[in-house]
This record gives sequence, structure tokens and C-alpha cells, in this order.
Amino acid sequence: MIKQGDDGGELYIVDSGELDCMKLFKPNKDPTHLKDYHPGESFGELSLLYNAPRAASIQAKTECTLWALDRECFNNIVKDAAIKRRDRYESFLKKVELLDTMDPYERMQLADGLQSHKFKAGEYVVKQGDPGDKFFMVEEGNLVVLKVDKPGEAPKEVYNYKEGDYFGELALLKNIPRQASIQCKTDVRLVSLDKESFKRMLGPLDDILKRNEARYQKYAQK
Ligand code: CMP
Ligand code: CMP
Repeated sequence: MIKQGDDGGELYIVDSGELDCMKLFKPNKDPTHLKDYHPGESFGELSLLYNAPRAASIQAKTECTLWALDRECFNNIVKDAAIKRRDRYESFLKKVELLDTMDPYERMQLADGLQSHKFKAGEYVVKQGDPGDKFFMVEEGNLVVLKVDKPGEAPKEVYNYKEGDYFGELALLKNIPRQASIQCKTDVRLVSLDKESFKRMLGPLDDILKRNEARYQKYAQK
């Protein structure tokens, strides 16, 4: 479908079938397999966004049906908004330690799915016991985590968050209610990912998320 180094004319959305994405990092070496594409996913946006040659090759693994969006449509419908979002979130996403191990390309793709939120000091972002459908990262401000261990007991302060921290992963990973409440100590700016985007884009970080979860247990043993 796409050969690395060619001029790009279209973005593609996979309707059915599977494709491979390969990138040649050094001439005369074997290409590296970057990822597979499945129905619902899209590729070929980079060269249209940045007027650059195709950054990787995409080859069909099975018979595929694809939808194509040409450069003119892309420029009219998607380009400006997508570039603005990526520029706006690029430096912030680099500061989130959780995302350090992510491929820079995939980290940038996160920007496409982020939503911004503003909260005032004193407001609750998440309440213990509520259902959860969002994962949050802190763009600016300070928050406190409050947890009720046994029903009827007063909530205890168990953690603090600042810029670059994240929360709200437990309810999404385990399909359980929110395990603590999160209250803003200052005015706060957050970005969120919905449950489906979180699982798709941050699912591969499962190990890190689970390792970081140990800090909650450490507190519980105190
Ligand atoms: P484009 O450069 O137009 O064509 C190749 C496509 O491969 C690119 O757009 C992206 O959609 C996709 N791709 C997937 N992973 C990567 C990656 N790590 N680096 C560059 N392109 C990638
Ligand atoms: P979630 O349960 O979805 O919503 C509340 C969040 O608070 C939780 O995910 C964690 O991200 C975060 N949290 C911080 N400290 C604790 C703790 N001690 N126990 C449970 N959750 C915590």
C-alpha cells in the first residue's frame, strides 16, 4: 500500500483485513516491524500532516478493504486541527514519565485522543465508588488522593499529584468502581483519555501500570 520514501497522497482507514508496518532505519539493513494494522485503524497521515516522504512501508498480510482520504480532503477536514493538537500536547506528553518507554510516534498519536479539562481548587475530579470511564494526566496544578478504607470511616489523605502524574487507571484496568477520590488543591488542568483509547494506546504499558500500583499497597500496609 505504501512504500517508505515515496510521496504521500492519501490516508487510509482499514475496513477489513490485516497489514504490516515496516520501517528501514539504516540503509542496507533489514526493515524493523513496527506494528500490525487491523479494522478501524488508520495510517498514512504523517506525510500529509508534515508534507514529508512516507516514513514507513505498509504491506497487506491478508486481502484487505481500505477507505482512502485524499490530500485535499485531509487538508480541509483534518490537518489544521490535528497539527494544533499535536503541537499543543507534544511537550506535555514528553514530561509524563509513564510514557517514557513509548515509541515517540505512538506517544504523539495519543494527542489525537486527548480531551482537556479545567477544575477549580476544592472540586472533585473522581469520587470513590463511582464508575470510571476516563484516565487522567495532570497538565498543571496539585491534587490530593483521599481514600475511605472502611465504610463509615473518615477519608484519609494517601497521595498527592503534580504536573506529569496520572490517575484513574484502576477502574479501567480492572472494571471496578473508583478506588479513591481525587480532589484539586489548586486550580487544575487535566487531560483525559476515554476507556477505549486508554486500553488501545496504553494497554501495552500494563506492566508499568501494575508495577506502579504497588505504591498503593505499600501505603495500605502502613
Ligand atoms: P506516512 O509517513 O504517511 O506513511 C507511513 C505510515 O506508517 C505513517 O504515515 C504512519 O501512519 C505509519 N506509522 C506507524 N508507525 C510509525 C512509526 N513508528 N514511524 C513512522 N510512521 C509510522
Ligand atoms: P481509580 O480507582 O480508577 O480512581 C481513583 C484513583 O486514585 C485510582 O484509580 C488510582 O489511580 C489513584 N490512587 C492513588 N492512591 C491510591 C490508593 N492508595 N488506592 C487506590 N487508588 C489510589
